[in-house]
Amino acid sequence: MQQTEQKNSGTLFDRDDIKVIDALDRAQLIAFAPYVWEASRLLVDQGILKLVEESRQEGMTIREVAGQVDMSYYGVRILMEAGLGIGLLYRKEDRYFLAKTGHILLNNEMTRVNFEFMRDVCAGGAGALEASIRNSGPEGLKSIGEWPTIYQGLSQFPPRALESWLNFDHFYSDIVFPVALPVIFESRPARVLDIGGNTGKWTLKCLEYDPDVEMGIVDLPGQIGMARENINKAGFEGRVQYYPQDILKEENLLPEGYDVIWMSQFLDCFSDAEIITILKKCHEVAGEHTRIFINETFWDRQRFATSAFTLQMTSLYFTTMANGNSQMYDSRVFSDFIEQAGFEVVHTRDGVGLSHTILELKKK
Ligand SMILES: C[S@@+](CC[C@H](N)C(=O)[O-])C[C@H]1O[C@@H](n2cnc3c(N)ncnc32)[C@H](O)[C@@H]1O
Repeated sequence: MQQTEQKNSGTLFDRDDIKVIDALDRAQLIAFAPYVWEASRLLVDQGILKLVEESRQEGMTIREVAGQVDMSYYGVRILMEAGLGIGLLYRKEDRYFLAKTGHILLNNEMTRVNFEFMRDVCAGGAGALEASIRNSGPEGLKSIGEWPTIYQGLSQFPPRALESWLNFDHFYSDIVFPVALPVIFESRPARVLDIGGNTGKWTLKCLEYDPDVEMGIVDLPGQIGMARENINKAGFEGRVQYYPQDILKEENLLPEGYDVIWMSQFLDCFSDAEIITILKKCHEVAGEHTRIFINETFWDRQRFATSAFTLQMTSLYFTTMANGNSQMYDSRVFSDFIEQAGFEVVHTRDGVGLSHTILELKKK
């Protein structure tokens, strides 16, 4: 178990040491951001970057590229020239080559997952940021469908949007699972409750890891349907209890009798007050020995500013597309909620997977 103690909490974003020339550069990227995004997206989606990549040291002229894609010579020219300024391409004489940033955009898995999530889920609603903040609701979600929050709509998403949403969600949580399993099963729990179990991925891992464990999944009815299907397909029918419910409804209580409660990338789906309410519901059903685990990505506990950036931007997805009132939290804000719900943190494991922190709580 990697238990990197957080050494840099508070050291990200506590100074402004960028060179002025780089600040000028970054500010232009912001000023032209909608075009930077659209041109980059087209360079990827039209296969232009891929063609240039495949040309390797040969490179390609604009005319050669235009001869191989479904776009006019003019269209290819403005996109490839924009690609130079954005830093996706570089040019020698009249031949274009893939630059490092272009290579990462095409081939780095995290970048691809983020990019496709932005393209297929978020971009259409990004312009609704201000309205979403003002109305405390995900106004951008209307670009996909009419639901009060994304969670009611997820199981009915258009296939490509659903795939990109799931890839985004799973990319970050999947790599946590192998690290988290021995931690959770150290106390030999007989019953584990997965709140916000989604498609059942974590539950399946637990069922495979411990042949005796019984699992419970709490989620909204649509997601419970997807989870049930996946779990039955894997042959684990009978070892899982399903609790289809909206956890925010006061009358819906959590089931009792679980030794471990696991909430992965779940509490970030809710507002400050809602998190306290959910944790209080956990408090009601937890016994003295119940181990409560929260697996979250806190932007202030990242080693690298790039990781923190992706989380801060993901907060805007929660505002515009998810529910209009949640975010990727600053751990210092979040720890107040834990305190107010009557828990204390007994163990903090930072640096889990790519960017996660696993908090272990017990009743105060
Ligand atoms: C971001 S996903 C996390 C999935 C999974 N635990 C993981 O780590 O990848 C959040 C889950 O919370 C569920 N959820 C959101 N709002 C809910 C609510 N009000 N009641 C119950 N479940 C909810 C969603 O349906 C979704 O499956």
